[in-house]
Amino acid sequence: MNPASSPHPLVATVLGARPQFVKAAPVCTALRRAGLAERLVHTGQHYDAAMSDVFFQALGLPEPAVHLGIGSATHGAQTGRMLEAVERVLLDWHPDLVLVYGDTNSTLAGALASAKLHIPVAHIEAGLRSFNQHMPEEINRVLTDHVARLLFAPTAVAVANLAREGITEGVVRTGDVMLDAVLRFRSAFAPASADVVARHGLVPRGYALVTIHRAENTDDPERWNGILEGVRRLGADGLAVLWPVHPRVGERAQALASASIRLSPPLSYFDTQALLMHARVVVTDSGGLQKEAAFHGVPCVTVRDETEWVELVEAGVNVLAGADPARIAYAAREAAWPAAGLPPDLYGRGDTAGAIAEHLRAFLGGATAT
Ligand code: UD1
Repeated sequence: MNPASSPHPLVATVLGARPQFVKAAPVCTALRRAGLAERLVHTGQHYDAAMSDVFFQALGLPEPAVHLGIGSATHGAQTGRMLEAVERVLLDWHPDLVLVYGDTNSTLAGALASAKLHIPVAHIEAGLRSFNQHMPEEINRVLTDHVARLLFAPTAVAVANLAREGITEGVVRTGDVMLDAVLRFRSAFAPASADVVARHGLVPRGYALVTIHRAENTDDPERWNGILEGVRRLGADGLAVLWPVHPRVGERAQALASASIRLSPPLSYFDTQALLMHARVVVTDSGGLQKEAAFHGVPCVTVRDETEWVELVEAGVNVLAGADPARIAYAAREAAWPAAGLPPDLYGRGDTAGAIAEHLRAFLGGATAT
């Protein structure tokens, strides 16, 4: 038990990349409600205001207790620096548990630093697999799951993936905390959503929302050129396109900008949700946007050869188009939301964060901070 300050169990949450801020928002609130003390460690993986600060402000996240300021580097250097810096914090704080999200380098660094100090690790979004070892995220999630003590798996498929790797102890089937976030913040983004669409010069159901940021797409010239051509064809087909550009892409999409293809800087969470709500189709390689499109009942074309969210493909709301321009353009043109919709409770009912907090409280036992 954290001897440094109080008799109450302390949860240290290690995060650093944009999607982790969204996932943490409902969980931070639920931990507080469950009477658990939490401190955030921001690794600094995402450091631009538009990638970090605006999310903390809009989502009401607590200020990080420490910001490591690691920033961008090669994978080994970035993860190594985080590992060393997170270890120092954990040695100082003596938390009772370390909480990590998803599959970024920040996730792996937090999990590894913690496991080596024999501090239990809880992993939210455990068990996801693409079976593509070329993705840095696949390596991060496999390694994180193998050192985690508590594994919060969002889907039945994720539970089965873990079982196949011999991990059954500590696995809890939950739902998806991103659904919690959408439901919790709906009243903040929905009322003004039509205005957001108009502000971008778009009309409801008249545009594709495009996001591309995966290294396997942006850093492979053949795939990158295929994707650019696919998006260009969408515009040429007469469908308006809005593409908020991730910093990894930078200026490289600029040549596509035209009357029908609009590029924008990264968007806030609320504006993203507003634009998702009214899109005709989403074209993305993001895991989070694949799910969020589905939460809003919008079909998705995934610009990858595989996805971790296979149940969306099975439900017919998501099509894998790879980096092939003809497939991207065709899938986007034909995309439609199936009459059957999504199976019920695919990602829970929006109360996943509360369930996770209760599990953590039971695991930590003893006194709580209320
Ligand atoms: C990371 C995650 C990815 C996640 C994504 C969400 C890993 C291996 N990848 O990818 O799983 O889906 O975050 O966005 O952890 N940059 C900036 N400003 C920033 C952050 C990054 O300009 O605030 C630029 C830098 O040039 C950097 C590049 O973007 O080199 C890539 O950033 P990095 O954090 O390494 O990976 P992401 O592509 O963001």
